[in-house]
Amino acid sequence: MTINEKFPPRKNFKWANYPGKVGAGIAESDFGTAPAVAQELHSAIDDGYTGYTPDHVYRDHLSTYADFLRGRYEWKVDEFAIRLADDVQSAYEAVIRHFTRHGSYVIVPTPAYAPFTRIPERLGRNVVEVPMLRRESQYSLDLDAISQAFERGGELLVLCNPHNPTGTVLGTDQLLALSEVISHYNGAVFADEVWAPIVYSGKHVPYASVSDTTEAHTITASSPSKGWNLSGLKCAQIVLSNPRDQKRWDDLALFPPSANSILGVIGATAAYGSGAEWLDDTVARLAVNRNLLARLLEDRLPGVWPTTPSATYLAWLDFTGWGRGSSPGAALDERAKVIVNHGEDYGVDWREFVRFNYAMCEIRLSQAVDSIATAFGR
Ligand SMILES: Cc1ncc(COP(=O)(O)O)c(C=O)c1O
Repeated sequence: MTINEKFPPRKNFKWANYPGKVGAGIAESDFGTAPAVAQELHSAIDDGYTGYTPDHVYRDHLSTYADFLRGRYEWKVDEFAIRLADDVQSAYEAVIRHFTRHGSYVIVPTPAYAPFTRIPERLGRNVVEVPMLRRESQYSLDLDAISQAFERGGELLVLCNPHNPTGTVLGTDQLLALSEVISHYNGAVFADEVWAPIVYSGKHVPYASVSDTTEAHTITASSPSKGWNLSGLKCAQIVLSNPRDQKRWDDLALFPPSANSILGVIGATAAYGSGAEWLDDTVARLAVNRNLLARLLEDRLPGVWPTTPSATYLAWLDFTGWGRGSSPGAALDERAKVIVNHGEDYGVDWREFVRFNYAMCEIRLSQAVDSIATAFGR
C-alpha cells in the first residue's frame, strides 16, 4: 500500500496544487484548525452571518484580541489602537505605500519572506538586503550592517519575529539593542509577528511592547493565519501603538471595518478567545515533528544542515555542503517530488537553501526525507 492510499492526499493548497508530490512548501498546516473555530464558523453560517460585519461583532473582536495580547504576551494594548486588514501582506503593502516615501530605502534582513522585498520594489522603493548572522544553526540580526543600511539612508526596517524562515525568536535584550539602532537613526519598524502563536520554547515578546521608544516607531501586524491555520479567512490585526500612525491610518481610511470578511472576523475572534488549548497541543505536536525531521536528516541526509527552529513549522535547510549545484529547491521538486520553497526567493545570498514545511503527519514527513535521500542516491 502506498502512502497516498493509506493517507489520502490532503485537499489544502500545498498538496492539491501538486498532485502526486509531497506538500512541504507554502506555509499552511495539515492539522486543520481549532474545534472552537470550526464550531463558531458553522454557527455563524447557520445564524445568517454572511453579510456585512455588524459593530458588535467587530467590537467583540477588538476586545478579544486585546485580551489575547495581554494574556499571552503581557502586552497591554488599548482596543482603540487595533485595526483590521485583509491579511498581513496587504497591511505591509499599505504601510510601504503610505508610510514610506517613493524612492526611500526599506531594510530587509534576509533570508526573508519574498513579499518583504518584492512589494517595496514594485512600489518604487529601494530594498537593502541585510543578511542575518549565522553561527552553526542559529541566526541573529546583524546590527552593525543594519546601522550601515540606516547610515546610507534607510527609513524603515522590516522585522519578522518570530522569523520565517529560520525560526529565530528574538528576546527582550536583542529587541532593545535593535531599538537603539532604530531610534539613533530616527527610523521606523514594520513588525510582522504572524508566527508569534507558534513558539516552542521561551515566549514571544512583541517588539512594540518592550519600551516607549519601540511603541513610538512601530506598526505591528499579526493574524491567526499561521497559529490557527486560517489564512483563507482573511482577517489580520494591526496594532498602531502611537497616535501619529493611528491618525494617518484613519485619515487615509485604510481597510475600513466594513471591508473585512465577517467569517474572518468571527473565526479570528474564536481563535484568539477560545483556541488556546488547541494551539498549545498543536505546538507540542509540531515540536515532535521538528525533532523527528532533525533526526531523519541526520540519518538520511548527512551534510544537509537544518536549523533548530524555536518557532514556526518551517525548517531552513542548508544544502551548501552538498555540492550539487545552486538550486537544490528545483532538484527536490523535480527529482524527489517534494515541493519546498526555494532559497533564491529569500534573498540573493540564499540560493543553496530550501525551506521545508514540516506541518504534516509523521509518516508523510519520513516519506518526504526518504524520497529526497533516494532521489539523490543516499
Ligand atoms: C512572515 C510572514 N508574514 C506574512 C505571511 C502571510 O500572512 P497573510 O496570509 O496574513 O498575508 C506569511 C505567510 O507565510 C509569513 O510567513
